[in-house]
Amino acid sequence: MKKIQITGETTLTGVFGWPVKHSLSPVFQNAAFRHSGFNWVYIPFEVSPENLGRAIEAIRVFSIKGINITIPHKKEVLRYIDIFDDEVKLLGVANTIVNTNGILKGYTTDGIGFLRSLKEEGGFDPEHKNVFLFGAGGSGFAISGTLVRAGISSLIICNRTHEKAIMLKNHLKEHFGFENTEVVQFHDRNRSSLWKDIDLVVNTTSVGMKDDDIILTEENNLNEDMFVYDIVYNRKTNLIKSAARNGIRCLDGLSMLIFQGAVSFTLWTGIDAPVDVMRKSLIEYRKM
Ligand code: ATR
Repeated sequence: MKKIQITGETTLTGVFGWPVKHSLSPVFQNAAFRHSGFNWVYIPFEVSPENLGRAIEAIRVFSIKGINITIPHKKEVLRYIDIFDDEVKLLGVANTIVNTNGILKGYTTDGIGFLRSLKEEGGFDPEHKNVFLFGAGGSGFAISGTLVRAGISSLIICNRTHEKAIMLKNHLKEHFGFENTEVVQFHDRNRSSLWKDIDLVVNTTSVGMKDDDIILTEENNLNEDMFVYDIVYNRKTNLIKSAARNGIRCLDGLSMLIFQGAVSFTLWTGIDAPVDVMRKSLIEYRKM
C-alpha cells in the first residue's frame, strides 16, 4: 500500500467528537486516501461542547476540506454551518460537513450508509418487505425514513419509551405519507404473532453493547428467511449471535460504519470510495 507523505499541499479532513479516541474512522479513511493516491489525511480532533463553535470556525480558518461530526455534537453543529442538505433539515442532525471555499454544508449519512450496507454487503433489498424496528432515537428516525423511501411494505416500531415510538410513527406519516406502521409496547416485543411475516429485523438501540444487556427478542421469533441487522459495532450482540447460530443472514454496525464513511469520502473527494480497502483496514487494525 502507498504511504502518505505529508507535504505543504496535503488536504485535511477529520472528525470532531468528545470523546474521540475510540473512533475507527481515521483508520479506514486514511487507508482509503492512501489507496486512492490522494495527498489527504484524516485526523481525530477532541472537541468539547463549549469549543464546538470555535472548532467549526477553524474548518474555515485552516481550509479543512471535510469533517465528520460525532457524539455529542450532531444536533448542536447545525447552529454553526451555512447550508443544510434536505435530510439534515428533516432530521435536525448532521454528521458530515463539506467545506467549499469557506461555505460549510451539512449532511447526514446514517440512513444512506445503512441502506448501502444492507444492499451491497448484505445483498438484501428492503423493497416490499415487512420490517421490525427496535429503537426510535436518532438512528431509528434516520434508518426508518430511508427504509420507507426504499419502498418497504410495513413497519413495526418498538421502543423502550413508547411515546418516542409514536413520535416516529407520526413523523413517517407526516413526512413520507407512510401509514403502514404499528407501534408495539416494549414489554410486548416477544409476542409471536408480531413476528410471523417479518423479513427484516433492525436494532437501532444501544442494547447489546454490554454483555449483560437484556435480550431484544427470543430466538424462536427469528427464522432463516429473515435478515437481521444490528447497528451496534463494538461487539457481537446477542441478537447477532442468535442470528448467526441459526444460519440467519445478518450484518452488524461495522458495515454501516464503513458505508457511512464511504458516503463522506465521496462527498469530499467526488469519487467512489474503495469500500473493500476500508473494510480490510479495519479488520487488520482490530487484529493488532
Ligand atoms: P442514537 O442517535 O444513536 O440513535 P439515541 O437517540 O440516544 O441515540 O437513541 C438510543 C436508542 O436506544 C433509543 O431508542 C433508546 O430508547 P429510549 O428512547 O427509551 O431511550 C434505546 N435504548 C438505550 N438504552 C436502552 C436500554 N437499556 N433498553 C432499551 N432501549 C434502550
